[in-house]
Amino acid sequence: MQYSEKVMDHFMNPRNVGEIKDASGVGTVGNAKCGDIMKVYLKIENGVVEDAKFKTFGCGAAVATSSMATELIKGKTIEEAVKITNKAVMEALDGLPPVKVHCSCLAEEALHAALWDYAQKNGIVIEGLKEPKEDIGDHEEVPEED
Ligand code: FES
Repeated sequence: MQYSEKVMDHFMNPRNVGEIKDASGVGTVGNAKCGDIMKVYLKIENGVVEDAKFKTFGCGAAVATSSMATELIKGKTIEEAVKITNKAVMEALDGLPPVKVHCSCLAEEALHAALWDYAQKNGIVIEGLKEPKEDIGDHEEVPEED
């Protein structure tokens, strides 16, 4: 298995590790198969993601994808944030081995879960956002080839 330099960098020096006290939205997701868990905190002001932090108890790719996903979401409007996909996270990391695609799905779900929490707390509907799954295991059966 080979990892890109960017994956290694974000694994060795993850950005945005930690938590945000008084976060606008918090999302926790897991994958029951590998047992990995991700928690994402977002600070949203005036419809813009001002800050993002994460805690990940998981594999190296889960750490790297959480790191990149929180980097990508910072500064985005809610509308843009909803459109961040696991594919975008993988591309920003110069790819992941096929068996690690589900780790990037966990990152996408964690961002969405935090946005969902924000929407619930503020009584708003974010277009295109679906209720998060607690366990993203379903994704695992359909790894994407590159
Ligand atoms: Fe489960 Fe990577 S092996 S998130």
